[in-house]
Amino acid sequence: DMGGHDTYMHKEIHEQADAVDRVLRGRIDDRFSTVHLGGLNLDAREARQIRRVKILGCGTSYHAGMIGAQMIEELARIPADAEPASEFRYRNAVVDPDTLYIAVSQSGETYDVLAAVQELKRKGARVLGVVNVVGSAIAREADGGVYVHAGPEVCVVSTKCFTNTTVAFALLALHLGRTRDLSVRDGKRIIEGLRKLPAQITEMLEQEEHIKKLAEQYAEARSMLFIGRVRGYPVAREASLKLKEVSYIHAEAYPASELKHGPLALIEPALPTVAIVPDDDLLEKNRAALEEIKARSGRILAVAHQHQEKADETIVVPKNEDELDPILMGIPLQLLAYHTALALGRDIDKPRNLAKSVTVE
Ligand code: M6R
Repeated sequence: DMGGHDTYMHKEIHEQADAVDRVLRGRIDDRFSTVHLGGLNLDAREARQIRRVKILGCGTSYHAGMIGAQMIEELARIPADAEPASEFRYRNAVVDPDTLYIAVSQSGETYDVLAAVQELKRKGARVLGVVNVVGSAIAREADGGVYVHAGPEVCVVSTKCFTNTTVAFALLALHLGRTRDLSVRDGKRIIEGLRKLPAQITEMLEQEEHIKKLAEQYAEARSMLFIGRVRGYPVAREASLKLKEVSYIHAEAYPASELKHGPLALIEPALPTVAIVPDDDLLEKNRAALEEIKARSGRILAVAHQHQEKADETIVVPKNEDELDPILMGIPLQLLAYHTALALGRDIDKPRNLAKSVTVE
């Protein structure tokens, strides 16, 4: 049942305010400015002994994991990174007892992720799951974890689960942070930010008509470049994947800081750039990148917290706490991919060559 929507993708994009409400529900602890995560199976002493965090996932879940790694580093000050599970399992990675491994998966059935978890468990590592489907293979195999509570996701292209996974990571990062050295003040600040998310998502989705018009213009492009730095970079990666999957337009994501090391050579009017420009410490640096692109007659669509003069168009996203900004910035880019695919007449819920979960090698 699509409840009045033409596609599941559209329905699921519009379910995100409720979905985020669900992942937060019952978990916030105002007394200690932290969150309770019932299924974690990690006591405070163990949480304090973690020396590194390694996050594993595929596709969109990997991108959510990249955002999660940054949140864990920022809020809990534990070195963290994300890697495609498929790469990790084939490189005979060093498994370290002081590292917390986290497997991320919407379906909980992705073979490469499951195989990585099994290999890690066999070597005695502690593995948590950040999973949407309750009771799925990865959820059962993990030592504990956080359910994402996005609800069923039918469209092959993941949208609401991506958003909810990033929120689940914010909760985990806050929990680890408050078990370690994150101050009460910062804990409160993050909780306030989390509580604002559902209303801000609704506010974001109200801009759909504007985004649709932009998508109809950009649908003519043969290729698109997505740029961002630090918090904006995984958002650019995910937006580029979304556009490829659903519209079949070639897209590439690059750290904005790397432009001058090569990709600037591509810039010309026929290659539009989508720039993720959060209002954080890197705002001026991002603006400089926009200028470099403009100087070469590149067309720019900025996804930013305030209007960007150097861009041809700006989609303005509601501002949250810096650490939580990636959660909202992905949403207009889902709509951009959706409306581009619609304008091109694509089979949105079932893109060619793809399956909802990849349960084989
Ligand atoms: O079920 P999972 O989250 O483990 O799936 C991982 C990827 O296969 C999945 O995210 C894929 O990239 C989607 N088609 C993204 O839209």
